[in-house]
Amino acid sequence: MRKPVIAGNWKLYKTKQEALSLVEELAPLVADAGQVEIVVAPVFTVLPSLVPAVAGTQINLAAQDVFWEEEGAYTGEVSSRMLLDAGASYVIIGHSERREYFGETDETVNKKIKAALNGPLIPIFCIGETLAAREAGETFKVLERQVKGGLAGIGAAQFAPVIIAYEPVWAIGTGKTATDAQAQEAHAFIRGVVSELYGAAAAGKVRILYGGSVKPENVKGLMACSDIDGALVGGASLKAASFASIVNFG
Ligand code: G3P
Repeated sequence: MRKPVIAGNWKLYKTKQEALSLVEELAPLVADAGQVEIVVAPVFTVLPSLVPAVAGTQINLAAQDVFWEEEGAYTGEVSSRMLLDAGASYVIIGHSERREYFGETDETVNKKIKAALNGPLIPIFCIGETLAAREAGETFKVLERQVKGGLAGIGAAQFAPVIIAYEPVWAIGTGKTATDAQAQEAHAFIRGVVSELYGAAAAGKVRILYGGSVKPENVKGLMACSDIDGALVGGASLKAASFASIVNFG
């Protein structure tokens, strides 16, 4: 059985005080969700101040990115060692916004996943096709390239903690969710690629999250799909009530 993961990606929202208020409101609403792994990803600067707020709750902390070197002359970057020090235990890597606006490639994503695993931090490795790729019939080709590129040189034992998030770019922040069938088809394909890389047992264990306009109204249908093991939630994670009802989907 794969334990579901519901993760909130707060993107570039929430100051320290706003983040604290959100977590304080959220914690009691998800206190009974022991069967779900709950993660929230604030901006870097907010992480340390959330550590006491999440202590003793079901909520875990993630960063939204990581650099691959441990330390050095890399102005503006943050390493996995520093994220651990700040209180993160997960890190989102390769989000499509980073691929689109900040030049992330399969190679940089791969270096970041390796750095996270060495941290150790649990990587939430994001992949997903653009609308143009989907319309050109290239969805599977893109997903295969992203999975294999992101995981290049990572052995089966090292791979074990990795969480994959399938986020079709055309469904992010657009209100347009993939249908349950479209999401399930992509997830099954991704699991097949993992099986090719690491074998059937590893593929049976890896959690694959869906992201892209997940809301309280559509989470149940998505979670009923056999290869969907959770959600990476953007907009709907910014309010305690909506994120809590996604966490409590069952
Ligand atoms: O990482 C989460 C994401 O990109 C989806 O955002 O706002 O469509 O839920 P949203």
